[in-house]
Amino acid sequence: MFPLNSQPSRGHNRARTMPTSSAPRLLFLCFFTLLAHSHFSVARPHRLGLSAEDVATVEAALPARHLAKAKTTFFEVNRPLHPPRGSSGPCSTLLLSQSFALTLNKPPVTAAYSPPSCLSGAGDVSLAVLEWRADCHGVQYDRIFGVWLGGAELLRGSTAEPRPGGVTWSVHKDVTKYASLLAAGNSTLAVYLGNLIDDTYNGVYYANLTLHLYFRRKAQLTAAASTPADLIVPVSRSLPLDDGLWFVVQNKTDIESTRVAVPANAYRAVLEVYVSSHYSDEFWYMNTPDQNGPFREVTVLLDGDVVGAVWPFPVIYTGGINPLIWRPITSIGSFNLPTYDIELTPFLGKLLDSKEHEVGFAVTNAQNSWYVNGNLHLWLDPKGSTTTGGLISYDAPKLSGSITSHSVDGIDGEYRATASRNISATGWVSSSRGNITTTFAQRLSFANSNVVSNKGGAQVINQTTDAHTDVGGGAYAQQVHQSFPLYIFQGGNGSGTSSQRLMRRVEIGFVESRAGGGGAVTSTLRNEQVAEAEVVLRDDQVAGASWRMHQVYNYGASNGGCYLRNVTSVGYDVLFDNNVASCAGTRRR
Ligand SMILES: *[C@@H]1O[C@H](CO)[C@@H](O)[C@H](O)[C@H]1NC(C)=O
Ligand SMILES: *[C@@H]1O[C@H](CO)[C@@H](O)[C@H](O)[C@H]1NC(C)=O
Ligand SMILES: *[C@@H]1O[C@H](CO)[C@@H](O)[C@H](O)[C@H]1NC(C)=O
Ligand SMILES: *[C@@H]1O[C@H](CO)[C@@H](O)[C@H](O)[C@H]1NC(C)=O
Ligand SMILES: *[C@@H]1O[C@H](CO)[C@@H](O)[C@H](O)[C@H]1NC(C)=O
Ligand SMILES: *[C@@H]1O[C@H](CO)[C@@H](O)[C@H](O)[C@H]1NC(C)=O
Ligand SMILES: *[C@@H]1O[C@H](CO)[C@@H](O)[C@H](O)[C@H]1NC(C)=O
Ligand SMILES: *[C@@H]1O[C@H](CO)[C@@H](O)[C@H](O)[C@H]1NC(C)=O
Repeated sequence: MFPLNSQPSRGHNRARTMPTSSAPRLLFLCFFTLLAHSHFSVARPHRLGLSAEDVATVEAALPARHLAKAKTTFFEVNRPLHPPRGSSGPCSTLLLSQSFALTLNKPPVTAAYSPPSCLSGAGDVSLAVLEWRADCHGVQYDRIFGVWLGGAELLRGSTAEPRPGGVTWSVHKDVTKYASLLAAGNSTLAVYLGNLIDDTYNGVYYANLTLHLYFRRKAQLTAAASTPADLIVPVSRSLPLDDGLWFVVQNKTDIESTRVAVPANAYRAVLEVYVSSHYSDEFWYMNTPDQNGPFREVTVLLDGDVVGAVWPFPVIYTGGINPLIWRPITSIGSFNLPTYDIELTPFLGKLLDSKEHEVGFAVTNAQNSWYVNGNLHLWLDPKGSTTTGGLISYDAPKLSGSITSHSVDGIDGEYRATASRNISATGWVSSSRGNITTTFAQRLSFANSNVVSNKGGAQVINQTTDAHTDVGGGAYAQQVHQSFPLYIFQGGNGSGTSSQRLMRRVEIGFVESRAGGGGAVTSTLRNEQVAEAEVVLRDDQVAGASWRMHQVYNYGASNGGCYLRNVTSVGYDVLFDNNVASCAGTRRR
């Protein structure tokens, strides 16, 4: 029985199922070969590394000073949200207070939503913040959850895995772009968090969801480029459901779609895509050729044509690789998953016929399963009752890419995958704002290498995703460049013996630059983590565990916005945490 790469031809192992046992013996020594019963196979069967129960075993073996009785706060490093100068507020409203115990495959929790009485119109909102605050104690897996208002998703996150003494975490998400939805009238708020509890996995999640609104002074203006949409049309599944409102894309040929109608006075359309990967594709970036390789993309289809692609950031949930690594500083994007914008304005000519059109999602190379849905943000012409448009050009050549494998002995070896894709479209829209031509162009590239060595005892993943997105024309012209480097090492000494060291190292980055016209903010973000964990076993017992995280979050914007945070944790202790909110001197003009 090998704790690491017992099936190196598959590159890695991700079983999380195991028999429950109260014995202190480390279960992960054999869990790769035990594909037993266990309810959790339904929830999230594929794991890489330690299960939540293994982690509880490791924790029990830690020196006493780590066994905090008080709740531990886990956090994702992000820049704080500040309302524009001169704003009033906050006006805070508790939207939901809920526990999640046996909620898997049950209807989402719903609550009636009415716009808070302090909110008189979407145009008054200078900042809207959705706060998710949750706690849990005991033993539990990380669970995915989503929050929808009127069918449009506002937040997707992974939960923190708890500790026996409890954990708490919070997310503050800027939801200003949903202002029209928040002000629109009565609707239904839905939260799905599929949890399961039993004697071993006893962690119940408790969560409060609060909306904080800030209002602008009457004379305060916003840049045209950042004015929220006038209408948000959900591109998701409708209640009732025994699941989240996301579509579940199960394989590479599966296309999940719905029909949407666009008002006849729309002059701009942007589809915002939410995506998360689960089960066989949770660690898609480690997949070998027999698992459809490591490349994944979400394609957006409009009436069957690919009009945009999302090359996702590899979000590692709190239970991924080695859950200790993500304590107390969680992995980038895990508590608040990134979303991706596809500019559909060039295609408005087609959509303005007041008929329904099919918007669909597919995932290239998908294995079961991907949770995908979208919000169609629409800007409406206040003066003209109808707008008109036409497509001038559209080019979406097929994805190009390759996978190569090389192995001498069928165990150690190397896989390499590359992919690239360009999509571009140009169209005009005539409204009371004039006849404006908009271009949307994506230039995407991807490279991944997966090297297995040491008779399957070590594995190295090195991946880069590069996404250039240009929107030309109009007040909302913008160039976005995203780069997502990922490096994973897993190995150890003496695999298969009773005394060994299990090691993990992860380097991951979310790097983004945005530049725009029309008063849009130009910004750069470098958010990078380097983390390591080591678990030492002696005679199959945990003799020690250690882990550390270093993260640098460096944001600068043309409006003077600036945030630099440099934080290091060792075990559960934050050793060094330096943040500079007013980076005078480094401020860009
Ligand atoms: C939710 O709010 C209630 C009432 O204020 C409070 O007692 C509870 O501790 C809160 N729960 C969380 C997870 O913040
Ligand atoms: C919205 O909901 C509130 C609270 O339930 C209710 O008082 C109000 O009449 C509703 N408004 C509309 C337009 O249905
Ligand atoms: C792919 O998924 C779809 C939707 O669940 C299903 O109908 C189809 O049979 C699947 N195809 C394959 C090849 O598994
Ligand atoms: C995408 O476009 C760039 C230049 O715009 C070109 O260099 C590259 O070869 C194109 N890639 C593909 C896959 O067509
Ligand atoms: C808008 O401009 C495009 C391209 O310049 C042109 O083809 C179209 O006829 C114009 N539409 C209107 C309504 O003027
Ligand atoms: C990953 O690959 C890139 C490109 O080949 C290389 O520049 C980089 O140094 C590699 N990173 C690591 C940590 O090996
Ligand atoms: C692996 O490393 C640990 C800790 O350094 C050591 O105690 C153990 O003997 C080593 N095991 C083997 C098989 O080398
Ligand atoms: C983060 O802090 C450490 C310790 O002071 C320092 O060595 C390092 O240069 C800092 N990194 C950045 C990017 O500021």
